[in-house]
Amino acid sequence: MSRLRIFANDAPDEPLLVTHDGEEIARELERIGVTFERWQANAPIQAGASQEEVLAAYREDVDRLVAERGFTTVDVISIAPDNPQREEMRRKFLDEHYHQEDEVRFFVAGSGLFTMHVDGRVYEVECVKDDLIAVPDGTTHWFDMGPQPDFVAIRFFQQPDGWIGHFTGSDIAQRFPRYGEA
Ligand SMILES: [Fe+2]
Repeated sequence: MSRLRIFANDAPDEPLLVTHDGEEIARELERIGVTFERWQANAPIQAGASQEEVLAAYREDVDRLVAERGFTTVDVISIAPDNPQREEMRRKFLDEHYHQEDEVRFFVAGSGLFTMHVDGRVYEVECVKDDLIAVPDGTTHWFDMGPQPDFVAIRFFQQPDGWIGHFTGSDIAQRFPRYGEA
């Protein structure tokens, strides 16, 4: 189930708000410019589905988002818990950073933890199947796929060559809960 927790940035043990309600999550995130939506597949997706089959199952929403935001590239990534590069991949975006384009992900299966840090607050979103999250360019955040990563996600890019994380050097992400490590 999707979950949003909001914290003061100096109190990682005491969430100010915890909600699993999709509409409430969307409302709270909208205040900081982050888009959150829940999509429904128009057909069941079988294990091992091709990229084309995955995109076809969400065609209307994918096309709407591309038209609204001018994406030039859409792809599907899949990471399984036995991926030999999982530790390296997990570490890559585990510290606070931002990008110079929106970070937009739709979870077809599995889950991951996006955390935004805006105006003294920390917004931690556990994204699960059917969740779309769009983090605006310049918004500081981190992403944790957990020690046993398991997800399939559609990624949307405006400039595939420009996909670079700019790290802030802050250790704030290390002070908040990591994914899958209670
Ligand atoms: Fe990022």
